[in-house]
Amino acid sequence: MSEMTRNALIDAARDAASRAYAPYSGFHVGAALLLKNGDVVTGANVENASYGLTLCAETAAVAKIANEGWIGELAEVAIVGGRPQGAALIGSEPVHPCGRCRQILNEAAERSRTDILVHCASGDGSAIATYRLSELLPAAFGPKDLGLIT
Ligand code: THU
Repeated sequence: MSEMTRNALIDAARDAASRAYAPYSGFHVGAALLLKNGDVVTGANVENASYGLTLCAETAAVAKIANEGWIGELAEVAIVGGRPQGAALIGSEPVHPCGRCRQILNEAAERSRTDILVHCASGDGSAIATYRLSELLPAAFGPKDLGLIT
């Protein structure tokens, strides 16, 4: 992917973060999934008064593509997070997906037979770290282990 497209995907994640529902942590996260057909599907974190029930941004985005019948195949994902200050997000360190989200992303990645790129951006946009999902979740357990993916 060109740097331009990577930055556009991060911008989509940043826009999604503006729709986070995070009144408890005050930490807004956005995720943008790039499908191989060029479509972009986004999600933001959805917190809950029963804190442990919180849905992460990546999980919300994967739920969208699953609920549409696993539309398209996943190629890349961008994640942005930080504390809002006006329309901007504060934070100079890249936000990495939590363990549960790595596993949730792995489901979509294995279904797509792709070791997806994961772009992790800081809230202020100054830092971007890019990984393959296999680096973030080595030796993953997934649908291939249950014979769903051959
Ligand atoms: N969060 C995400 O949305 N994705 C992650 O991968 C890490 C954490 C959210 C959950 C919670 O609403 C807030 O960030 C603080 O933990």
